[in-house]
Formats: sequence, C-alpha cells, structure tokens
Amino acid sequence: MHARVAPLVTPARAPIAQLLRDLRALGDLRRRAAIVDARLDGWRAPLERILGYLPLPRVGYARTLLHRCDGFELLLLTWAAGSASPIHDHAAQDCWFVPLAGRFELDDYAILDERDGTAELQPLRRRCVGAGELDHRDVHEAVHAVTPVTPHALSLHLYARPIDACRIFDRRRRRWSWRRLGYDAFAPQLGE
Ligand SMILES: [Fe+2]
Repeated sequence: MHARVAPLVTPARAPIAQLLRDLRALGDLRRRAAIVDARLDGWRAPLERILGYLPLPRVGYARTLLHRCDGFELLLLTWAAGSASPIHDHAAQDCWFVPLAGRFELDDYAILDERDGTAELQPLRRRCVGAGELDHRDVHEAVHAVTPVTPHALSLHLYARPIDACRIFDRRRRRWSWRRLGYDAFAPQLGE
C-alpha cells in the first residue's frame, strides 16, 4: 500500500494558502474589516512562482481568480504598461487592494450629486502606493481609479462579497454605466 502523498506546498504558494485559511475563519469579512485590514497591511508573497501562473497582458489588465466562495473572492491582477482602471465603484461591497510589485497611483472620489445615472464627482485624495501598502474601499468611500505608474505591476484584490458587476464613470459625459466583470485566468493551485 502506497503512502498518501501530501499536497505540494512551496514557499511561493504558502502565503496565499495561509491567507485563504485565515479569511475563511473570519466569516463575514465586512463585519471584521479591521481584522482584515491588519491581516493584509504589509502582505507580501514571493513572486517567482506566482508569475508563472498569470497572464501578462500587452494592453489593459488581466484578472486571475485564486478563490471564490459565497463570502469573498480573491484575485491577482497583472497590469500592462500604460494601463489604468476607469473610475469605478465596488457594487456596495468592500474591496481590499495590495500592490505586490510595481507602484500604483490611487485616486479617490466622493459622489457630490447623483441623479438619473449622472453624477458630480469630487477628487478626495491621490496617493502613490508600493508593495504591501494596503488600500481599503468600503460602501462609504467606494469610488476610485487605479493606475500603475511602473512598467510592470501586480496587485492582490479581495472583494467581500464577490462582485460580478460594478459601475464605471465616464468623466466626459459625467455618467455611470454598468460593467460586467469576468476572469481572464484561474489559478486555484496558488491557494492550495
Ligand atoms: Fe477598485
């Protein structure tokens, strides 16, 4: 009889697997947001093995799903040089964002006035963040835009609960529209 072979755990995989275990143990992440903040602030992962699982887009950004359950979804985003997200909200869910490589400019906005799909947005703050510097959007300050400012950039995104669509804002027309969110790749093995 052969001994059962234990799952392969590499130094590159272990931090994501441990993070997933910790997040599952917390239950409703939105009610434990301060604990999630503390868990993700400064979070780092070895990049060498992770990058091999991720698409490297020539334009825009690619969304790779690591884990999805009813309570949350965890993704890695790889960003092409010159890419940027539109101004967007997070469908009334919480969003935790941690750069893992490169640097990002984050622009936060307040909604001043909103009616019939149009809105006035006021810039709140702009900050530049690098590896391990956490950003957390919640329902009270939901709107931002994310722009990598280095040629290569990689970020971790935690959404609680999962987001299948969000609103994006057209600055010229001052109008919201809905965008469905999909995945460009799947890498559950990184969380095992
Ligand atoms: Fe976002």
